[in-house]
Amino acid sequence: MSDYTITNISDKIDLRPIRDFAITLPQIRKPETDLSTDPEQREIQTKYYNDNNATKFLAFGDDEDVKHLFKDFHKAINLEMISYCLIYQSPGTFTGPHYDTFFGYCDRFGIDRKYAPHIQRHVVFLDEWKWGQIFCFPTSVYANWRMGDMITWPYKTTHSTATAGLAARTALTVTGIDPDVWRQINA
Ligand SMILES: [Fe+2]
Repeated sequence: MSDYTITNISDKIDLRPIRDFAITLPQIRKPETDLSTDPEQREIQTKYYNDNNATKFLAFGDDEDVKHLFKDFHKAINLEMISYCLIYQSPGTFTGPHYDTFFGYCDRFGIDRKYAPHIQRHVVFLDEWKWGQIFCFPTSVYANWRMGDMITWPYKTTHSTATAGLAARTALTVTGIDPDVWRQINA
């Protein structure tokens, strides 16, 4: 069994304007790293992953200069309470091993953390795969993606990423709740 599932959304939305904005991130944002709540992962990340090798440039969908990019995105994915994050990963850098708790997402939208396992996160690749770019899971590695490929994985699956080639990688995370689950939460 694979650690992740893949679909492609290129036929539902034009990703080029989003990609073109993501490419500008090193000029307009500061680096931010992703930290886990797991003690072992935190220790390893703090010891070995730093500003030099874990550089990530992020932009969030509700940032004033980003909002306009996502006005039609609901046509590509059926989720409620969607949150977007653009990621630019420079060559020679990693996202250290971690899993996503979604606690920050729950707190931001006022959702009880007990619903965190029902939150979905999808990673959309904004450009064609280039040599050296990898997405690591506990029993497999994802690479060779196409622009518009979108992957997701079960809650608390550990993952890490690397751009170990010559070209930067741009990606978009889309986080939200299945409409049926959202109705149940609000019933
Ligand atoms: Fe993650």
